[in-house]
Amino acid sequence: MFIRSELIGLGHYLPNKILTNDDLSHMVETNDEWIRTRTGIRMRHIAAKDETTSVLAGYAVEKALKNADLQPQDVDLLIVATVTPDNTTPSTAAKIAGKLGFRAGAVAFDISAACSGFVYALTLADNMIRLGQVKTAVIVGAECLSKIVDWTDRNTCVLFGDGAGAAVLRAVEGNGSNQDTGVLSSCLYADGTQFEHLKTSGGVSSTQTAGFVQMNGKEVFKHAVISLSEAAETALQKAGLRKEQADWLVPHQANIRIIESVGERLGLPQEKVIVAVDHHGNTSAASIPLALSENMESGRLHKGDIIVLTAMGAGFTWGGAVIRL
Ligand code: UT7
Repeated sequence: MFIRSELIGLGHYLPNKILTNDDLSHMVETNDEWIRTRTGIRMRHIAAKDETTSVLAGYAVEKALKNADLQPQDVDLLIVATVTPDNTTPSTAAKIAGKLGFRAGAVAFDISAACSGFVYALTLADNMIRLGQVKTAVIVGAECLSKIVDWTDRNTCVLFGDGAGAAVLRAVEGNGSNQDTGVLSSCLYADGTQFEHLKTSGGVSSTQTAGFVQMNGKEVFKHAVISLSEAAETALQKAGLRKEQADWLVPHQANIRIIESVGERLGLPQEKVIVAVDHHGNTSAASIPLALSENMESGRLHKGDIIVLTAMGAGFTWGGAVIRL
């Protein structure tokens, strides 16, 4: 018997407030044309003052559980991937578990892997499920990046948005082949020598503040195209699948030019590449589950589809995964 992690429910939440490129042009020296052509972003959602990461994530978890036809008490493990936790400690996951009424004793923790956070969380949850440590897991990518963005820095403030996406994973029996349903493969990487290219200007033990996002965009761009493509290729190889067998590529949503380059390098037609950066901006760990949930809700994704996930972010961190829905 081979245990697989089947994806049985998705959910997402986006704050009501929308910030357009024209709005930004009144805040910093920028314009809609520059933002659209350099990034593909038209708009992003911005959390209200009282909408913390646990609030956004909590709504996404509730929807994912409802779509999976499960109750909070059914969950054994909750992982929240975020760089914008409500508190330094305890974890945002523990806060959500308490608020939503998870079973006492259910495992809950946060991980910090920036834009790769969802793929990292997926891999951890999948491993714990396959080891038999848990049967039902909820993984979440949730961010309030608007709260760590320097709104006077046009190099970064036009790029990011807020939101949350959640997925429910459940142990199912498979036969170990790539005909199984669920997570078929994953791979994770990090290279801390690239730390300076994308970081916050502070942190708890250095400045006693959260700091603001700072990025060397050109350098990150270069690495992003290569890392995202290689992680997708490795995940496909590990699953024993050819590129053309993928129904969908869901890459981290940072920049339309990066997304298109990765699609081209993989030889996938544009129609197979899911794009959400135009209306979400870069939501870091939330970008992949948001895109998955939105496209599941719209009926674009179907049971049996093979989906390739690939992400890259601060650290640098990167990774990929293949899932059969
Ligand atoms: O989520 C983790 C992964 N993150 C990413 O993958 C982001 C990767 N990087 C990028 O997406 C792109 O590098 C950016 C969108 C951040 C920047 O695009 P770029 O084509 O690399 O532009 P640039 O930084 O080279 O800037 C070109 C020009 C500069 O002016 P000069 O020096 O040529 O006169 C910038 O000052 O554009 C200027 N610029 C802007 N102009 C209008 C920078 N930001 C803006 C702006 N509006 N918002």
